[in-house]
Amino acid sequence: MAKPSYIVGLDLGSTKTCALICQLNEEGKLEVAGVGTAESKGWRRGLIVSLDSVVLSIKKAVEAAEDVAGVPADSAYVGIGGPQIKGVDSRGAVALGPKGREVQREDVQKVFQAAQAISLPPDRKLIYAERQEYLVDSQNGIRNPVGMTGKRLEANVHLITGSLAAHENIVTAANRAGIVVLETVFEGMASAEACVTPDEKELGVAVVDIGGGSSELVIYAEGSVRRTASIPVGGEHFTNDIAVGLRTPIPEAEKMKFAWGECDPADPSVPVFEVASVGERPARIVNYTMLKEIIEPRAAELLELLQAELGRFGYENQIPAGIVLTGGGAKLGGLAALAERTLHQPVRLGRPHGLEAMGDQLSDPAFATAVGLVLRGNRLRRLHESQDGGWKGWLKGFFG
Ligand SMILES: Nc1ncnc2c1ncn2[C@@H]1O[C@H](COP(=O)(O)OP(=O)(O)OP(=O)(O)O)[C@@H](O)[C@H]1O
Ligand SMILES: [Mg+2]
Repeated sequence: MAKPSYIVGLDLGSTKTCALICQLNEEGKLEVAGVGTAESKGWRRGLIVSLDSVVLSIKKAVEAAEDVAGVPADSAYVGIGGPQIKGVDSRGAVALGPKGREVQREDVQKVFQAAQAISLPPDRKLIYAERQEYLVDSQNGIRNPVGMTGKRLEANVHLITGSLAAHENIVTAANRAGIVVLETVFEGMASAEACVTPDEKELGVAVVDIGGGSSELVIYAEGSVRRTASIPVGGEHFTNDIAVGLRTPIPEAEKMKFAWGECDPADPSVPVFEVASVGERPARIVNYTMLKEIIEPRAAELLELLQAELGRFGYENQIPAGIVLTGGGAKLGGLAALAERTLHQPVRLGRPHGLEAMGDQLSDPAFATAVGLVLRGNRLRRLHESQDGGWKGWLKGFFG
């Protein structure tokens, strides 16, 4: 019997590191084999500041996942994200001769390559190129131009670029933890892969992955990525506000933020928490109103920044499938409802799906990226497999 294949997603978040090992079962479905998490250390503003700490977090998460899965994870699809990621549109063109002719598969490859050939500053790297549409003699909206006749073939693509150094550091950290990086994948897209359906992507949908230090926005329309942006507010900002506002240690503030969703606003004066103070001061009682005064302005800021990004791209009031909030930060009590009220668009919480045997732990917005990395990895694997038959053997080489 053939040995099973495994696909590993490695999400290097700013708050948690997650390794997810999935097995490709006999029906070709992806089944969770093991998941491991570790607290992320060594990051600041989405960038690695201590390689050793990041390596340690990766090792811990991978070992925990391996223990459950009972197989080694040697290679992975690894997430990359944060404010250093930028999205830019580009267009490429190839001439088909003065008389015109039928478009061949090779022309499509060539025009796709041409659209990617932008001159990047030496410190930037192309992470991903998304095909949006092809144009034949200026007729746009073409998904597959092969066989169509014309004189000129063009391609519109959305390019996602990242800092070269940030990319290298991620690869180095993974390598030092014993993991070969099969591909780096933009975290926002990975999360979207896990939380929205192809139909929603077709209609038009905005996915916001609210992480620890920042939130990644990805807008889809007509089936492909149209815009990407990073918003410099994430869950940690809320925690810090609570810690400063109530003069309490970060872990206490984090606990209050989690419990905020359970508060009953019907009686806002009822004490909800006893908070340990910093230093020698006695513990204090915190009520709903006090928390509301701290949390809501930050939520309003996050939503204003999101609205500004949507507006910048011309999507402020016309996203047919609405806005999907995911990432751990999206679990903040009342955030989705507040977003719906202020943005005047349908808003839902995005829980990841698409794997067999996910259980409660993985069906949580905080695991959208990890699940999406595996789904995307599987897609890339299938793509390579269809391009050359050698990939399977290569994959087997990694997983034994
Ligand atoms: N129930 C909850 N209510 C409010 N916030 C929550 C809840 N659960 C998790 N969070 C917050 O989610 C944030 C972490 O989200 P997530 O795990 O998606 O981040 P990450 O992937 O590590 O970071 P990033 O994507 O920014 O690199 C933290 O700020 C955490 O406090
Ligand atoms: Mg994340």
